Amino acid sequence: MLKRKPKKSELKSESENESKNESKTPGDDPGSGASNGARRPGVATPFDIAGKTILITGASRGIGRAIALGMRDAGAVVYGTGTKPESVAWMADEELVGRALDVRDEVGTDALIAEIVKRHGKLDCLINNAGITDGRLASWHDAESVEDVMSTNYKGTMIGSLAYFRHHRKQGGVIVNVSSILGIVGTEMSSVYCSSKGAINQLTRCLAMEWAPYNFRVNALCPGLVDTDFIKPITEHPAVLQAAIERTPMKRIAQPEEMIGAAIFLASKASSFMTGQTLVLDGGTTVH
Ligand SMILES: NC(=O)c1ccc[n+]([C@@H]2O[C@H](COP(=O)([O-])OP(=O)(O)OC[C@H]3O[C@@H](n4cnc5c(N)ncnc54)[C@H](OP(=O)(O)O)[C@@H]3O)[C@@H](O)[C@H]2O)c1
Repeated sequence: MLKRKPKKSELKSESENESKNESKTPGDDPGSGASNGARRPGVATPFDIAGKTILITGASRGIGRAIALGMRDAGAVVYGTGTKPESVAWMADEELVGRALDVRDEVGTDALIAEIVKRHGKLDCLINNAGITDGRLASWHDAESVEDVMSTNYKGTMIGSLAYFRHHRKQGGVIVNVSSILGIVGTEMSSVYCSSKGAINQLTRCLAMEWAPYNFRVNALCPGLVDTDFIKPITEHPAVLQAAIERTPMKRIAQPEEMIGAAIFLASKASSFMTGQTLVLDGGTTVH
């Protein structure tokens, strides 16, 4: 199994913690019995994902990349995909396992999940994150452009989930679908994208119901605007970006790293009684 080398800064903070712990014993502090604030050695938090095996599609850039690196830092063994070998070439230097995979490819997806399960004996969590947008008026769509978006976003999510279920039916599992607030509310210039994310939210609910008896949990993460290549059509136009920011109570867009905590929550025991839900991270955009 791949094991991440601790970084120097981590070693330092660990040894600092140890020496702090040595110098204090319970009862030293005024108000005897109070915790000294250090994590109890050997006690896992509900958010612990160390040693878990995780597959994230569309991890070559943007949100998937941030989640992959964040989960690696938390001690997980992370497989990440991109469309081409060049997209994932950087991963080996970052202690991630990179694989080229088109999420529309049923055979390739099945083979990758089979490979992971064979090598590690398990795949603790599948994160269906790969996605594309449309960015055009509904009246400019045709059957081919609809198929492009639906097959990557919706069908890709379904194909990954089915392959995972096939290979992990006996063990159970955790699926996190990276959806969008545009699966909840509508907007202009993204009719097929919104539909694909709405379909993912419904798929999340339906799989949660059908697969709960097999010990699968299925949830969706719904970001608002996150600063990645994906929203270049917005960020490259200051007036459009400003209008989006004005609609957001927190008056900014998110950075990809701000998705890591929620992804770890959904992948870990911390969400053990949660399934079929959509978790929104949008700076408040959809509260009004
Ligand atoms: N950014 C936002 O504001 C935002 C908001 C809400 C939801 N989301 C959702 O978050 C997810 C990630 O978005 P992002 O902003 O990180 O996008 P991004 O920066 O454009 O990255 C997209 C990722 O998906 C991969 N990909 C695209 N088509 C694929 C296919 N057919 N098969 C396999 N992989 C494919 C890309 O691989 P290559 O690098 O090889 O092209 C890349 O890794 C998407 O599902 C998106 O809908 C994004």
